[in-house]
Amino acid sequence: DPEKMEKIVSLCKGKGFIFQSGELYGGLNGCWDYGPLGAELKRNLKEYWWRKNVQERDDIVGMDGSILTHQAVLTASGHVGGFSDPMCDCKVCKKRYRADQLEEVPLCEAKKQLPKGEDKRCELTEPKEFNLMFETKMGASADDDDPNAVAYLRPETAQTIFVQYKNVLDSSRLKIPFGIAQIGKAFRNEINPRNFTFRSREFEQMEIEYFCHPDDGMKLTDEWLEKRLNFYEEIGVPREKLHILDVPDGERAHYSKKTYDIEYEFPFGIQELEGVAYRTDYDLGKHQECSGKSLEYFNPETKERFIPHVVEPSAGCDRTVLAVICEAYDEEDLTKEGGKPDIRKVMRLKPCIAPIKAAVLPLLKNKPELVAKAKEVKALLQPHMNIFYDETAAIGRRYRRQDEVGTPFCIAIDFETLGEEGPNGEDLSDTVTVRHRDSMEQERIAISELLPWLLARMV
Ligand code: GAP
Repeated sequence: DPEKMEKIVSLCKGKGFIFQSGELYGGLNGCWDYGPLGAELKRNLKEYWWRKNVQERDDIVGMDGSILTHQAVLTASGHVGGFSDPMCDCKVCKKRYRADQLEEVPLCEAKKQLPKGEDKRCELTEPKEFNLMFETKMGASADDDDPNAVAYLRPETAQTIFVQYKNVLDSSRLKIPFGIAQIGKAFRNEINPRNFTFRSREFEQMEIEYFCHPDDGMKLTDEWLEKRLNFYEEIGVPREKLHILDVPDGERAHYSKKTYDIEYEFPFGIQELEGVAYRTDYDLGKHQECSGKSLEYFNPETKERFIPHVVEPSAGCDRTVLAVICEAYDEEDLTKEGGKPDIRKVMRLKPCIAPIKAAVLPLLKNKPELVAKAKEVKALLQPHMNIFYDETAAIGRRYRRQDEVGTPFCIAIDFETLGEEGPNGEDLSDTVTVRHRDSMEQERIAISELLPWLLARMV
């Protein structure tokens, strides 16, 4: 559904979720900036992932590794020699293509104007391996040709975990099985960045390396798959929109004995969100071999010594944000019979990740008592969650604006709040109207109850 994708991209820009990086100068291909609402959404997602996978578990700890990576690390892991895609260039228009993704020879940009009947296709070179890592040089005085000055921007967060596994183990009291979790940037010089943020050159990963006994690897891979599917459900991506690909022999990464890809039905097709891979002892084994330092684990009870095996749930933060937005985006036809067309745009984001948790809205802006009370309510809530205050336009319009950016609750301060009698003569002073985004239903809640009421709905 390309039309839906276009609407989403345009809403993301218009409402301040996601902008093209360097747009002012024509854009930097494959790079994206998160605006005010996108930054909140992404932060909420990362915090939720961290809470579920680190804070609420006794067997997983976090780390935050450097992005610049020692070349020896990525040589040992196989990235320097092997992290590449086959590519070919057009000798005429100079465009570059992934050789393994070409179904036919593409139309040539430089030959577009050729008369009818002449060959307008690219003239492609033979496929050549193209390493996807970004390379840089370290140190102000580094000799330009000094091979030791080369460092890389990490292509996955995983390797920083593997090379610190021993330090984490030695500095904590963890016993196998245990995990190390990390959220952070990764960089790949993708040949064809596309589908909005889906395939970028700079992106964020949320990865866990779960270290275990060799006998438990297969079983834990299945268990992690289940846990990760539940996670997506909790953040608003339902199970029926997810597909599990049990990656067949011959198609898995060289290090993996079992891999499940968790895929989502994006508007541009069914595509990977996360990989759950059983990496065996491949990485720790390689780092032990190349560093010459023991990375074995000793179990004092069984006296067994072994290189731990690893199960790795590896999710893309940007892809998850995109899936959540695609899933939440909705248009509801509220046109009344004989009335003007009325389409309500609404983002049905789960409250735990919504960028704005509640909007505080005084009914009228020219009544100082209403405004003062609304600001009091805002001050009460603001230390606990992201609150938006809005006193412009008619209240109905303000509700709709919040619907469009996914705010789950609107809190209206009206004359009843200030002490005016309700429609049936009841005393509604110091209560507010809470309007629900999804059902558009309204209820009255005492200001004194408001904070716990909202917090209970944010988990
Ligand atoms: N450590 C394992 C690993 O990096 P991967 O399948 O290459 O495995 C894991 O990447 C996840 O990272 C993917 O499922 C995806 O969500 C995200 N990812 C990978 N490349 C990406 C890109 N170019 N743009 C955005 N996200 C990407």
